[in-house]
Amino acid sequence: MSYKEALQHTIFKIISKSAKELQLDTYVIGGFVRDYILKRGTHKDIDIVAIGSGIKLAKQVSKNLPNDPKVQVFKTYGTAMLKFEDLEIEFVGARKESYSEDSRNPIVENGSLEDDQNRRDFTINALALSLGENDFGELLDPFNGVADLKNKIIRTPLNPDITYSDDPLRMLRAIRFATQLGFEIEKESLNAITRNNERIKIITKERIVTELNKILESEQPSVGFILLEKTGLLKHILPELIALKGIDEVEGQRHKDNFYHTLEVVDNISKHTDNLWLRWAALLHDIGKAPTKKFSKKVGWTFHGHEFEGSKMVYHLFKRLKMPLNDKMKFVQKMVFMSSRPIVLAQDDITDSAVRRLVFDAGDYVDDLMTLCEADITTKNPKRFKKYHNNFKIVRKKIIEVEERDHVRNFQPPVSGEEIMKTFNLKPSREIGIIKEAIKEAILEGDIPNEFDAAYKLMIEKGEKLGLKKHEKR
Ligand code: CTP
Repeated sequence: MSYKEALQHTIFKIISKSAKELQLDTYVIGGFVRDYILKRGTHKDIDIVAIGSGIKLAKQVSKNLPNDPKVQVFKTYGTAMLKFEDLEIEFVGARKESYSEDSRNPIVENGSLEDDQNRRDFTINALALSLGENDFGELLDPFNGVADLKNKIIRTPLNPDITYSDDPLRMLRAIRFATQLGFEIEKESLNAITRNNERIKIITKERIVTELNKILESEQPSVGFILLEKTGLLKHILPELIALKGIDEVEGQRHKDNFYHTLEVVDNISKHTDNLWLRWAALLHDIGKAPTKKFSKKVGWTFHGHEFEGSKMVYHLFKRLKMPLNDKMKFVQKMVFMSSRPIVLAQDDITDSAVRRLVFDAGDYVDDLMTLCEADITTKNPKRFKKYHNNFKIVRKKIIEVEERDHVRNFQPPVSGEEIMKTFNLKPSREIGIIKEAIKEAILEGDIPNEFDAAYKLMIEKGEKLGLKKHEKR
């Protein structure tokens, strides 16, 4: 079968020409071929296998390209990379590999195309198109990868125990592809992942997080998290989520299963946002519930302070997984910390002052917070579902009104500390804090508008109450 039409980009002609000059059989392999057949759009990372030296081929290709792009050589791996237009092209010599028990780094020997295909992760990723002059575009599919693409199956070329044990990251990749593509992992493979799940421990955190992010960025992330749980991988990666599993019952009172609830929230939010960090916030919004869970006869199950506990756990989790401890992490923490605020607010009559406080506390994140809280409504009671959503609509409307009128989103006090010091001829002192707080409170309560004149008047009143005298100008 020929797939010439997949190779219309000039780069393939140039690689083919270079390969001929070096007399190397050469193929495009992996994601590019897979995504072409799946019609997933053009894969920008192109993997080239040469039967011989991939590094030499890369250098030759560079020579044949206009303004010879730089070839980056990774000696230890025997690979080379160059960039052309918006493409990243990686060259590797075909190899036979075997791995040792405790490392991802293989012992590498030169091999044939078939050896190379054998050592790849999945049949759908082992598809190769020839770049030879005479068989340009010819498909080499020794494991029926095209059939697996059609039947939506993830399967390993070799015995799955070998493929996964060789490179345990592939267990996560299998689940990630299943989630991204809506494929099923073949039973033998799934069993092998379960058997080998412990080996995920030798994989670096960064690589694990890359796969987790891809699962989270999928249309329906729950598919991946359910597989991660089922195969026993999740307990090694995110034990905080495992701790949310299960329903306890005491004296006939049950709480919901917060693991499955969380997954529902993640799926819900994924319909409304592509923001990876907001999706992380959805995944972690209830993790504080496991350590704060209590039962009392009077009130049943409670999770007091779980938002605060959860936001602290976010830091430890990010640190453990070597995720960025920057503004992204702070954003997730803030979302988790504030995750119950809108629902509490929407259960009562929605007052302007409560909305103003919400906007004040959430700042620029208030819209994201609302998106999270709307996704958090997973009640199966249609009446309540409707009520909460309607209330959130009111909250959203009020947020806009309050914001237009009072500008508390990124609150700047209308009267500064300096102004207070000048007015009462004060040195830095606690009175200034008290007056500032009183002004802020009055604005949030709606007692005064967020304007200078009203705030100035209140400052004078408060100052006098504190026994301060207005300083007369000399
Ligand atoms: N590969 C593998 N085992 C891995 C990683 C990669 O066998 N642990 C092989 C697969 O043949 C894969 C190719 O290397 O197709 C390229 O890997 P990569 O660029 O990571 O993935 P893609 O398949 O291109 O897919 P994506 O870009 O979606 O990650």
